[in-house]
Amino acid sequence: MRKPLIAANWKMYKTPAESTAFTDAFLPLVASQKKTEIVLCPSMTSLAVTLAATKGTDVHIGAQTMHWLDNGAYTGETSPIMLNAIGATHVLIGHSERRQYFNETDETVNLKLKSALAHNLVPIVCVGEHKAERESGHTNDVLKQQITVGLQGIDPAAATSLVVAYEPVWAIGTGLTATPQIADDAHKFIRAQIAEVLSPAIAASTRILYGGSVKPDNAASLCCLENIDGALVGGASLDPTSFAQIIAASSI
Ligand code: PGA
Repeated sequence: MRKPLIAANWKMYKTPAESTAFTDAFLPLVASQKKTEIVLCPSMTSLAVTLAATKGTDVHIGAQTMHWLDNGAYTGETSPIMLNAIGATHVLIGHSERRQYFNETDETVNLKLKSALAHNLVPIVCVGEHKAERESGHTNDVLKQQITVGLQGIDPAAATSLVVAYEPVWAIGTGLTATPQIADDAHKFIRAQIAEVLSPAIAASTRILYGGSVKPDNAASLCCLENIDGALVGGASLDPTSFAQIIAASSI
């Protein structure tokens, strides 16, 4: 019932030429892949070339962030209207690096989520605890807060496209991965929170992705648990072969 989704988060990597080299190599590798929804989230300057390269394919293009307003005097920002205009379909919201380095909060996540839904962009809302929070037994408190505030005031009927990515901060770019059991437990908890804040029906249909050092050799063990509906992949998505291997491993 929930279509698996595997998304690439390229962060601040790849020029347009490098992005084109990626899609040239990658698209033939996933041409027959129908089971999984594939999304590439390049930097803003590579959105145009990746959109052109993927036109007519099943690969979707998303932004790594956006402002919640349609336009205004916000130097450096990109609006949902601009993303719509070029054909981007997805957007990452509240990635932990945005929270850590660019002061994003659960409140700005909420504003961005409402805006993305209003503009028909598929929002991928990122949540996850820091190492100290897990070690002190506060993981569920943190997830509850992020989901409750991040999703507050959302009309459940308008949230059918919602995607959540559970990315424990201690697992991002560190080579440390949550065990499948840790991930599945967190996903189950997140789904229960979504049921409370939105509705049980939306919770049941919301895709919850795992992110944090997903690689070709651990993708299969992380993809196929009851509550895990795909992956958000950073480092290993930069290489076309390794990203295609992750998709193949998750689509069995
Ligand atoms: P990673 O990054 O796969 O390099 O750990 C994941 C992410 O930050 O989305």
